[in-house]
Amino acid sequence: MIVDEHIRDYLFSLDGELPQFLAELEDRALAQGVPIIRRDTQSVLKFLIRKEKPEAVLEIGTAVGFSALFMLEFLPEGAHITTIEKVGMRLKEARKNLAGKDRITLIEADATEALEQLVLSGRKFDMIFLDAAKGQYGSWLEQILKLLEKGGLLVTDNCLLDGSIAESKFAIERRDRTIHKRMREYLYEITHSEMLDTVILPTGDGLAVSCRL
Ligand SMILES: C[S@@+](CC[C@H](N)C(=O)[O-])C[C@H]1O[C@@H](n2cnc3c(N)ncnc32)[C@H](O)[C@@H]1O
Repeated sequence: MIVDEHIRDYLFSLDGELPQFLAELEDRALAQGVPIIRRDTQSVLKFLIRKEKPEAVLEIGTAVGFSALFMLEFLPEGAHITTIEKVGMRLKEARKNLAGKDRITLIEADATEALEQLVLSGRKFDMIFLDAAKGQYGSWLEQILKLLEKGGLLVTDNCLLDGSIAESKFAIERRDRTIHKRMREYLYEITHSEMLDTVILPTGDGLAVSCRL
């Protein structure tokens, strides 16, 4: 956690309650150790969705479907979410949780492959929520930029590695150095790309919000 717990809890107290079914899904996911979007990230996503009213959202990293169902609550009528997940045990839960939701399409594949297929299909999205393997964000950026409409939003979760992104690589445990290096490279790219305007917030585990110029 980057923001002081005390401040975070106060901010939570100002925010509205989740609908019952989402609160229960959140409890279940947390009890099972599934890493779903945190409350402060939920608030920012809700704000962005209500403000931007995207019609087509792409999520990379479904887990058990919590964030997809959360986003659906605030999307305009008729808007659609496509969400990608590759891990079998997550997919099993996601299929159950997303059953009957015809405005959410679950793509059961590795994101690298799924993104290539989406680019080939000519699909475009006006919001992309990137919340999957942190070490791969950089390798997906080229495809993401092809899929994102001009004026669309790219929202990248977990990008500050709980604050350790600011540490020198020597202060990072050897096993985490690759991810630290790759995330720094990703953040450099999205803050220096001529195709994006980016702000990075210390929300949750770090949240980057980029607009496709
Ligand atoms: C942080 S969780 C997503 C949480 C979800 N967005 C939520 O808040 O409810 C990241 C998910 O991305 C999935 N994932 C990681 N790498 C992936 C890849 N290469 N292709 C597809 N899914 C991937 C993981 O299996 C995991 O379920």
